[in-house]
Amino acid sequence: MDSKHLPLAEEALQNIPPHQRKNKIISVLKEKFDFQSAHLRTTNNKGDGILSKCFNYDAPNQVKKLDIYPFFKVIEAMNGARVTIDGKDLITVSTNNYLGLTHDARVIKSSQQALTDFGSGCTGSRFLNGTLTLHKTLEKELSEFIGQEDCIVMSTGYQANQGTIACLLGRQDIAFSDRENHSSIYEGCAVAPGKTVRYHHNDMDHLEHLLKKYSDVDGKLIITDSVFSMSGDTANLPGIVKLAKDYKANVMVDEAHGLGVMGNRGQGLTHYYNLEKEIDLYVGTFSKSLGSIGGFVGGNARITEYIRHKASAFIFTAALPPASVAGVTTALEILISEPERISRLQDNTAYIKKGFFDMGFQINNNQVPIVPIKIGDETLTLYFNKLLFESGIFAGVAVSPVVPPFHAMIRSSYTSCHTRKELDHILATFKKIGTDLGIIAQ
Ligand SMILES: Cc1ncc(COP(=O)(O)O)c(C=O)c1O
Repeated sequence: MDSKHLPLAEEALQNIPPHQRKNKIISVLKEKFDFQSAHLRTTNNKGDGILSKCFNYDAPNQVKKLDIYPFFKVIEAMNGARVTIDGKDLITVSTNNYLGLTHDARVIKSSQQALTDFGSGCTGSRFLNGTLTLHKTLEKELSEFIGQEDCIVMSTGYQANQGTIACLLGRQDIAFSDRENHSSIYEGCAVAPGKTVRYHHNDMDHLEHLLKKYSDVDGKLIITDSVFSMSGDTANLPGIVKLAKDYKANVMVDEAHGLGVMGNRGQGLTHYYNLEKEIDLYVGTFSKSLGSIGGFVGGNARITEYIRHKASAFIFTAALPPASVAGVTTALEILISEPERISRLQDNTAYIKKGFFDMGFQINNNQVPIVPIKIGDETLTLYFNKLLFESGIFAGVAVSPVVPPFHAMIRSSYTSCHTRKELDHILATFKKIGTDLGIIAQ
């Protein structure tokens, strides 16, 4: 193994066979940083007040000293599948820009035009004074695209989930939420007056068990991500829709990672399964395939009209600014008129997944361009990530509590802009580091 790869464990690894390296590195790293106790178990000093936990929290500093801190990297430039960090050109596999629309010249031009026409902001919330013609145009085009009667453009996808759930889930109602759902769904459930029960991830038997248990409750809402953001799993929507019918529940689907990705036209997992008329609420974001920021919720116009007048996260916040709305509208038009971007994304996804599968990594066999590489131990994952960075690859990590303890992963994601050469470099690099560290067989 190249010794420059091992500033921490260089000596410890001398003469260690590959299959023992992983454990050796973990033990060397653990002597210096115990992720579980340093990051997860934060404490207040008795008598020192609420903020003492902040002064006791030194985990980021410890990780920085070990030179394996992966967060808040400062990006100096970015375009498509490349980013510049610390003056170094890297291939990014940490991006939600699935269709490469963030830097599309037409998107930028329409954002610039809106900035000139309307200024830098909306001067208030959509509710009172911040609704522009631009918002209405986007809402109309989006509704047609997702096959819903109406939709509401909000300031983020987070707010779309949080605001929708919080205003619909009344005191007498109950939400059935997949355990792997996004944090914004958890948040919406937490602030709503109604009760939430969580079913095991994608487990239809458990969902049915819970629906049966609460069958006397009149207001029941099943909530699921369509594509789960960490595992890249897809929801069992046919199973959910069937159970919803059997137990008279409504269904809300968060298509954050489904829009622009699933189905040949990118209309999401609901369309992939031809279930768009069977669900009640379609939530989405503009921060993934549409390359910008913002979110929306779509459905029957009576439902959206209710949400429009009741969702605090929509009413009490500033409207999505003109440049973003116009950019997203153009991005949506491109998504519709250039389906070859989706085909390219699907080809790239299939190519990279086969490469990882052949290396011995456990990979989801679906169209989702999120490819988690499971490492397990948190500190080892941070170390793996650092080696990737040194080899020209900018990846994300998912560590506890985002995933369960000891289920840490390199979270990689792919776009229509990655070239075959870039994908081959990524695969070769993962293979080298994986075998060097004894994570995969040589
Ligand atoms: C599944 C899911 N839902 C909702 C969101 C929130 O979207 P936004 O970035 O627009 O707030 C995200 C983004 O991370 C997501 O992954």
